[in-house]
Amino acid sequence: MCDNCGRNSAENHPFSYENVEKLTKYLKERVSIVPQIGIICGTGLGVVTKLLTDSTIFDYKDIPDFPVSTVPGHHGRLLFGRIGSTPVVVIQGRFYFYEGNPLWKCTLPVRVMKLLGVSTLIMSNAAGAINSSYNVGDIMLVRDHINLLTFGGNNPLRGPNDDKFGPRFGTMNDAYDRRILVEAKGVVKSLGMSGVQEGVYACIGGPSFETVAELRALRKLGADAVGMSTVHEVVVARHCGLKCFAFCLITNKCSMEYDSKEKQYHEEHLMVGKQREDDLKNFVEKLVLRLTEGNLA
Ligand SMILES: *[C@@H]1O[C@H](CO)[C@@H](O)[C@H](O)[C@H]1NC(C)=O
Repeated sequence: MCDNCGRNSAENHPFSYENVEKLTKYLKERVSIVPQIGIICGTGLGVVTKLLTDSTIFDYKDIPDFPVSTVPGHHGRLLFGRIGSTPVVVIQGRFYFYEGNPLWKCTLPVRVMKLLGVSTLIMSNAAGAINSSYNVGDIMLVRDHINLLTFGGNNPLRGPNDDKFGPRFGTMNDAYDRRILVEAKGVVKSLGMSGVQEGVYACIGGPSFETVAELRALRKLGADAVGMSTVHEVVVARHCGLKCFAFCLITNKCSMEYDSKEKQYHEEHLMVGKQREDDLKNFVEKLVLRLTEGNLA
């Protein structure tokens, strides 16, 4: 096993371009599909994997040097397949910062997808509503994000920059692809989906949820939903030139008052995901087809 890969090595030692290439080579030798779109499934959104035909599945633990995830309800699998005729790769089971992973490790799958040939990333997550007009079960298309980890100085690109992936100073004003967002709204309309919002996602480190004062602060900052993932993936994806689209499944309303009865449970997140499964599946399927047809992926 490589001593530079993150499984055995010092926490702060980033995975080099050559390490990612080696890992990718292992996968390429075992699957003929060259994926165009990469999909990262958030909590309870594994339903997307049911769309795949012609699939080849890898458990993380069987891929040399790939990290393994530890959250209950999360698979650790990488799936190749097709949605319609579009070749895709699906990451089922994220690596979270709150598990103790450094951010470069959380985002390793993004770079693997890049070297596999992916040009567009679709990400989903479970999030709490800060915007009081949102309801549990709503889907929020992400227009932009507030990355509180980056505010605090923790960025997945911190450390030596490898120009083979991208430039030292990347722009983030174009983080979420405008044209894909327009297409996504078109899909929502064509499917007649209700309860779909568009807003700003804020990321905290977790694993504890937010205090009332923190939530009030986030609302003042302009956040509509809050969660513990996705933003670092977007940072790394933009750095290596991938187009990004993300959506949140609203699994709870955040308690903005001290005497509120609203509570946040991980199990609840999994349940809400189940209820909206068909909608999410149809949405992702139509979006992928539309992006391919429109040459937007
Ligand atoms: C909450 O969401 C609604 C509906 O998308 C939007 O019109 C409104 O501006 C948002 N509220 C705040 C405070 O951002």
